[in-house]
Amino acid sequence: MAKILVTGGCGYIGSHTIVDLIQNGFEVISVDNNSRSTSALLTGIKLITGEEVKNYKVDLCNFDDLFAVFHENPEIKGIIHFAAYKAVGESVEFPMMYYDNNLGSLMNVLKCASEFKVPHFIFSSSCTVYGSPDHVPVTETSPVKPAESPYGATKQMGEQIVRDISNVSEINSVLLRYFNPVGAHPSIKIGELPLGRPQNLVPAITQTAIGKLDQMTVFGDDYDTRDGSCIRDFIHVSDIASAHTLALKYLMEGKNSEKVSVFNLGTGNGVTVLEAIKAFEKVSGKKLNYKIGPRRPGDIMAVYANNQHAKTELGWNPIYNLDQMMDTAWKWELKLAEDASFFGDTNFMMN
Ligand code: WQD
Repeated sequence: MAKILVTGGCGYIGSHTIVDLIQNGFEVISVDNNSRSTSALLTGIKLITGEEVKNYKVDLCNFDDLFAVFHENPEIKGIIHFAAYKAVGESVEFPMMYYDNNLGSLMNVLKCASEFKVPHFIFSSSCTVYGSPDHVPVTETSPVKPAESPYGATKQMGEQIVRDISNVSEINSVLLRYFNPVGAHPSIKIGELPLGRPQNLVPAITQTAIGKLDQMTVFGDDYDTRDGSCIRDFIHVSDIASAHTLALKYLMEGKNSEKVSVFNLGTGNGVTVLEAIKAFEKVSGKKLNYKIGPRRPGDIMAVYANNQHAKTELGWNPIYNLDQMMDTAWKWELKLAEDASFFGDTNFMMN
């Protein structure tokens, strides 16, 4: 079985991707310093797959510690690099922390990949690189606009760093641009564990519905859209996960015609914030307590994917619909409330 190193394997998308990799016959190790995650999700991975995944609790910004992991696992065939800070608002407040962490960790991973001749590399990117697009849906050749936040800038710079290193090394790479990952694994044994007050829409919805938050705010209903609220491309996290396994197989089977391939990971369906809330209310049977507030600085009005390239090249087909995204997200929130002791003190998560 090919051994794959997943950085950020204890995180939301990382843990779901590990499940998919194992179920497709890969051996997986994780490197995650748990600064923004807990190892609790590794228990969920074991419950789903039966496999105990080893996590090296190492800071990727510490080159020597990371080098030691590669030295212990010289047979690594591929790397999927998720580990990064990802809160847009926090990145505006602490840009140096974001550049230091997100770019420093990426550079160390790539240095080790070159040193240990790891042939395949997948980079966790984001639709954020498109900024506020002139046209939707966006394709992979849609213009990359000036980043709206240091977080977005680290994704744009990260893509460029991967591209430049791949072009002068044995590394073949795939850049996966996620739209809005939401929901939880259908087993409800892993899901999103937001730290502190959730910035993203779906955790804000489920935490309001369960009473962790008194009320949530819809940031603006005066946009030039069908109901005035922003449009996004919500994509189930398990669909995002399966795309990573397919991207790895794409590289391992030599199907890539370029040293660096780029794919949008979205459903292709634009959904408004208010439509997402209505879908949640329908599947949960809960009336959500929200108010309409002012626009959030930095938000763009509408972005959603043209996902044809991933469908054609990777053979990827997202299978979860909006109701299933909301249903699994809600069931996961209910499980967190039941197992608060297991997943750590939720007050900690609320700080
Ligand atoms: C979605 C919509 C908000 C919360 C960001 C990053 C992206 C990715 C996902 C990491 C917006 C509205 C939200 C709330 C609201 N990050 N909203 N009330 O901003 O599209 O994308 O997170 O991978 O790279 O840019 O996601 O979920 O924060 O917001 O009305 O309490 O929901 O205004 O229109 P976003 P989001």
